[in-house]
Amino acid sequence: MSNLTFGIIKPDAVRAGKQGQIISRILGAGFKIRGMKLIHQTRKQAEGFYAVHAAKGFFDELCDFMSSGPCVVMVLEKENAVPAWRELMGATNPAEAAENTIRKDFATSIGENAVHGSDSDENAAIEIAYFFSKLELV
Ligand code: CMP
Repeated sequence: MSNLTFGIIKPDAVRAGKQGQIISRILGAGFKIRGMKLIHQTRKQAEGFYAVHAAKGFFDELCDFMSSGPCVVMVLEKENAVPAWRELMGATNPAEAAENTIRKDFATSIGENAVHGSDSDENAAIEIAYFFSKLELV
């Protein structure tokens, strides 16, 4: 298990001004923030990031949404970071998310679900490298 994972505070949560509360939850859960920046993805960047979902029916909607406004990209450190961050986020569909998870409290739908997290150590390394150079990791 790696101690690093990748996260995004998505455009819906940033638009709603919830990024501060979400970062506070992340720190409160014991993560260290190794990298963080506010970006506004182009459609092409979003398509590249979510290329694994290119064949899915929701791909266009997903890429439109992810390029619709600023988001916060983060590199998070904690023991067993990938499952720990997924647990804090909650289920992809906020209707199924457990109490006290970020998606339960801040997401509005399966498409606009406040945060993203890597699903494996291998994908965490790929996703970190997609948005951060080594020099940007503290
Ligand atoms: P995320 O963890 O960022 O990874 C892929 C994203 O696709 C997921 O969160 C959801 O926001 C989105 N997604 C998954 N299923 C659907 C769906 N049925 N309709 C719209 N978006 C979806």
